[in-house]
Amino acid sequence: MATKSRMIQAEGHLIDSGILSGILNTILARGGDYRITNFIVGKTPEEQSELEVELLATDEHALDLLLGALKAFGVFEKTVPSATLVPVEKARYAPESFYSTSNHRTEVFFEDHWRMVEQQRMDASLVWDAQRSVFICKKLRDLREGDLVVCGSESVRIFPAEAQRKKSADADAFAFMTNTVSSERSVDTAVQQIAQELKRVKERGGKTVVVGGPVVIHTGGSEALASLVKGGYVNAFLGGNAIAVHDLEIQFYGTSLGVDLKTGKVAEHGHSHHMRSINRIYGCSSMQEAVRQGVLKTGLMHEIIKAGIPYCLAGSIRDDGPLPETVTDMIQAQQRYAEIIEGADLIIMLSTMLHSIGVGNMAPSWVKMVCIDINPAVVTKLADRGSSQTIGIVSDVGFFLRALAERLEA
Ligand SMILES: NC(=O)c1ccc[n+]([C@@H]2O[C@H](COP(=O)([O-])OP(=O)(O)OC[C@H]3O[C@@H](n4cnc5c(N)ncnc54)[C@H](O)[C@@H]3O)[C@@H](O)[C@H]2O)c1
Repeated sequence: MATKSRMIQAEGHLIDSGILSGILNTILARGGDYRITNFIVGKTPEEQSELEVELLATDEHALDLLLGALKAFGVFEKTVPSATLVPVEKARYAPESFYSTSNHRTEVFFEDHWRMVEQQRMDASLVWDAQRSVFICKKLRDLREGDLVVCGSESVRIFPAEAQRKKSADADAFAFMTNTVSSERSVDTAVQQIAQELKRVKERGGKTVVVGGPVVIHTGGSEALASLVKGGYVNAFLGGNAIAVHDLEIQFYGTSLGVDLKTGKVAEHGHSHHMRSINRIYGCSSMQEAVRQGVLKTGLMHEIIKAGIPYCLAGSIRDDGPLPETVTDMIQAQQRYAEIIEGADLIIMLSTMLHSIGVGNMAPSWVKMVCIDINPAVVTKLADRGSSQTIGIVSDVGFFLRALAERLEA
């Protein structure tokens, strides 16, 4: 029998996003009960709905557990205490009860006001910036002695991306797609919609980041991706050592992993081509220099360097060379990745599980993400790790890129 109660609230596009039913079903499924005390339905696509509910449970502990489960839907208590800030005693070591962030927009109630959180990402702590009166997401490894960290979750509210989306179909270029993965989905339709979105982002001076793995090159997508860079549709590039190595191999030898991309035959001594390519870059000192000296005249890396867009190649244990520009210090690489995706409108992930999940971990939930992979499990994995906004397209990446480049040229 429910004897204890608390007033809770939620706001946003609660009905069509499924948030309302999510809240009510969660309460019942977890043995609680509710009484809706106020519900204002947003009438226009711009107007948000407001919900006020009396949450009922057997005791205070059961109420705490229920509230914890409801936080993911953006639920917060009507009366919220000011956040508890605990100073960091030792660099890189947060107070035990630190609040660990999600990738959703977050606010903290502190000194009578809801305060914004900046640099939103998942798996971070929240540190008070007194000068600017905001909270900042900080990785544990970046914590310094004396930093004031939010502890507990009672003064934190999150805004799930689904609840923030406007209702009108044309408000979102991807409204036609649900954020699930389907191998049945017509790749043609997806290509058309992504081409439109790329144009839109370019026209309004937005930011598209491409994350790519070496399969882009092996499947003959290098030229198409290079043409997107040249066309100004790509504003930043992230990948590993391999995509650059195999792109160079094509430019210098016409092969990828020793296979002639025109004939499909293994070239004589082809297995050494990627090593010779790395060596040639070392001869010039770097890819930047190779472009400047006219040694590297075509291809993806050439276009990226020529366009002057930011890029980062993150190292891994598999790397050959690595190339001089590959960042082998993983913390530096993560920091550079995070800087590069800051302010992104659209992130397109092309056939790399490692780097796609890495980027998914750093990106806020309101950034549109599209993942193209031959394996549907990769998109599912991204979603399972919290990047549930990802739209999955199951396709050969070379085919996808050629179709996309063709459509953008048209
Ligand atoms: N020579 C080298 O230096 C070298 C070579 C290989 C990989 N690496 C490094 O290893 C790390 C991981 O490499 P990765 O990103 O290739 O591996 P990964 O396993 O993370 O990703 C490969 C992805 O490609 C997908 N895929 C395979 N064929 C496809 C196709 N035809 N179309 C679409 N998707 C397809 C797979 O399903 C998989 O998800 C990277 O850092 C990379 O730079 C280095």
